[in-house]
Amino acid sequence: MDINDIKTICVVGAGNMGHQISTLCAIHGFKTICTDISDEQLKKAEAFVDKYLPGRVEKEKLTAEQAKQARANISFTNSLEAACKNADYVIEAAVEVLDIKRKVFSDMDKFAPPHAILATNSSFIVSSRIADATKRPDKVINLHFFNPALVMKLVEVVQGPHVSDETRQISMDLCDRIGKVPVHLKKEVNGFLLNRIFAAISKEAQWILEMGVAGVEDIDKACVFGAGHPMGPFTLNDLTGIDLTYTIGMEAFRASGNRADLPTPSVVAHYVKGEYGQKTGKGWYDYSDKKK
Ligand SMILES: NC(=O)c1ccc[n+]([C@@H]2O[C@H](COP(=O)([O-])OP(=O)(O)OC[C@H]3O[C@@H](n4cnc5c(N)ncnc54)[C@H](O)[C@@H]3O)[C@@H](O)[C@H]2O)c1
Repeated sequence: MDINDIKTICVVGAGNMGHQISTLCAIHGFKTICTDISDEQLKKAEAFVDKYLPGRVEKEKLTAEQAKQARANISFTNSLEAACKNADYVIEAAVEVLDIKRKVFSDMDKFAPPHAILATNSSFIVSSRIADATKRPDKVINLHFFNPALVMKLVEVVQGPHVSDETRQISMDLCDRIGKVPVHLKKEVNGFLLNRIFAAISKEAQWILEMGVAGVEDIDKACVFGAGHPMGPFTLNDLTGIDLTYTIGMEAFRASGNRADLPTPSVVAHYVKGEYGQKTGKGWYDYSDKKK
C-alpha cells in the first residue's frame, strides 16, 4: 500500500483539533468524514466549515470551485461505525484520556477496513500505549498536528517500535499531500519533540509568574520581543487549553512519579475554576470583552 491508496479519511473528534484537521483533509481532495459523540460539536464543526471556506475564497486563498469541492468532500456523523466503514486512514483527535483513546481505537479497529492506518493526534500519549487495543499494531501511529492545525505546518510522525515502515512512510506522504511539513521521530518519547522544548519554556514562565518576578503580559512580551516567538507562552497556552496542560502534567507525573512533572499551582488553580483559556472566555487572560 502507498499514499495513492489513501482516498478516504475519517477524523474522530470534532473539537478544537478535529474540525480543523477534517477541513484540511477535505481541502486537499480527500473524502473526509468527521465524527464525534457530541451532536453539538458536530454542528459547530459543520458551521465552521460553512464559514471558513467562503472566507478563504474572499481572501483569494481558494477558488470558488475548490471551496465547493472541499465542501462536497466533507461530511459529519455521530456514528463511528459509519465514519470508519470505508476509511483508508483514520485520525483520532478525541479527548486526551488514555482509557477513552484505547476504547476508541478498539472500536476503530472493529469498524475500519483491515488495510486502514489508525493514527492518533494525541499530544502526549505514545501509540504503543494504544496499539495493543487493536489487532493491527503495525498500523497504529502518532500523527501530531499543532494548533491551529489549519495554519501550523509542522506534524510530528512518531514511529514506535511496533510501527511498520510502510505506515510511517504513508503517514509522512499524507502530511506532504495536505501541505504540512512532517518530521520523523525515530523513537517514542513522552511529549514528543517540540512540546518537550516548549513545555520547558512554558513551565519556567509559570514559575517566574509564581515567584512574582513579572506578570503574564510582561513574560509574554519578553518571549515575543526578545526571543522572536510569534506569541508568548501564556497567550499560546490560552489557545491550546489550560485543561490540556493540566491533563498532560498529571499524565506525565503518573508515568514518571516525578513531582517536577506535576502541573504548577497556577495551572491547577485555573483548571479547577474551569478557566481553560480562549474556549471558556478566561484563562491567563480575560476574553470576556473579546478584544484579546
Ligand atoms: N488543543 C491543542 O492545542 C492540541 C494540539 C495537538 C494535539 N492535541 C490533541 O488532540 C486531541 C484533541 O484535542 P482538542 O484540543 O481538539 O480537544 P477538544 O476537547 O476540543 O475536542 C475533543 C473532542 O472529542 C470528542 N470526544 C470525546 N470522546 C469521544 C469519543 N469516544 N468518540 C468521538 N469523539 C469523542 C469530544 O466530544 C470533543 O468534541 C487530544 O488528544 C489532544 O491532546 C491538541
